[in-house]
Amino acid sequence: MSLTDTQNRVLEEVIEGLQDTPKHISSKFFYNKVGDELFERIMELPEYYLTRSEYEILGNQKEEILQSIGLNNIESIIELGAGNAFKTKILLKYLLEQNSDFKFQPIDISQNALNKLGNDLKVEMPNLNFSPLQGEYFEVLKHLKSEKKQKSKLILFLGSSIGNLSNSQTNSFLKALYESLNPGDFVLIGFDLTKHPQTILDAYNDKAGVTRAFNLNVLKRFNDELGADFNLENFDHFPAYNPIEKSAKSYIVSLKNQTVNFKSADEKIDFKQNEPIKVEISQKYSLEDIEAFAKESGFEVAKHFFDCKHYFVDTLLKK
Ligand SMILES: C[S@@+](CC[C@H](N)C(=O)[O-])C[C@H]1O[C@@H](n2cnc3c(N)ncnc32)[C@H](O)[C@@H]1O
Repeated sequence: MSLTDTQNRVLEEVIEGLQDTPKHISSKFFYNKVGDELFERIMELPEYYLTRSEYEILGNQKEEILQSIGLNNIESIIELGAGNAFKTKILLKYLLEQNSDFKFQPIDISQNALNKLGNDLKVEMPNLNFSPLQGEYFEVLKHLKSEKKQKSKLILFLGSSIGNLSNSQTNSFLKALYESLNPGDFVLIGFDLTKHPQTILDAYNDKAGVTRAFNLNVLKRFNDELGADFNLENFDHFPAYNPIEKSAKSYIVSLKNQTVNFKSADEKIDFKQNEPIKVEISQKYSLEDIEAFAKESGFEVAKHFFDCKHYFVDTLLKK
């Protein structure tokens, strides 16, 4: 099996993570065609309140959010990890109805997600100025810095994707984002708020088993795309929520002593029975945490927008 340069870079990172102690796999590898489809199913699950809460916020408060920036003051909307942009479409549609002249630039690691989104938008919003960019948001941030235009950029980071970063990574990320923007630019970030721990745990442990399939699909992806030979029946999904640390973590657990071969790299990885692999962190936040992140990075909090249950907040930050 011969790999592309991109696949070789992924292979190197995956093997490095599996040779580490404890073992880990980055959640950014979840998103191939099957992973994108499984995540769309997660968004519809009764337990996965995050999407519904943010949909309610954007649906009910779009005017106020966008008017805080100025309907004719938006040069571009740049979305980090756009996925199917299900919720973003509320903002795009509203701005088009207001004849606002702006560009929509979704950034995603999944080319499949961007292709699908492009096809959908051609039909749903043929007049939208659409300019997708495939890549990692950290890399793409570096190219954001541009001459100050008269109008503002609006960066979207929705769905509490920020929760996939540790708190120290969030601090560095927000500082880098601040540096890459011009005064007068805005960022709208979706943060999942603390709530009853069981509600949070259930969101990552749905009864239908879709999250389980989503997490284990990463191993199938490594088989299909990197020439590994994981037997999925020998691994399990294990989510946990720690209400003191406010972090939900998902692990893949090896059910037996086993060796997995990555033939294309000529590497073998040993797993012990019950050994966990860290695959995802989904950090939760208090409002104080969010205010502290803003202060630390230099952003001004323009406003917090909540859903009716106060499960979730979209915070508008201004440079
Ligand atoms: C959890 S989904 C969220 C999608 C959407 N923003 C929402 O709120 O529903 C995460 C999306 O970010 C993309 N993604 C994950 N890690 C990424 C990274 N490091 N760089 C760029 N995109 C990434 C995935 O491909 C996926 O489409």
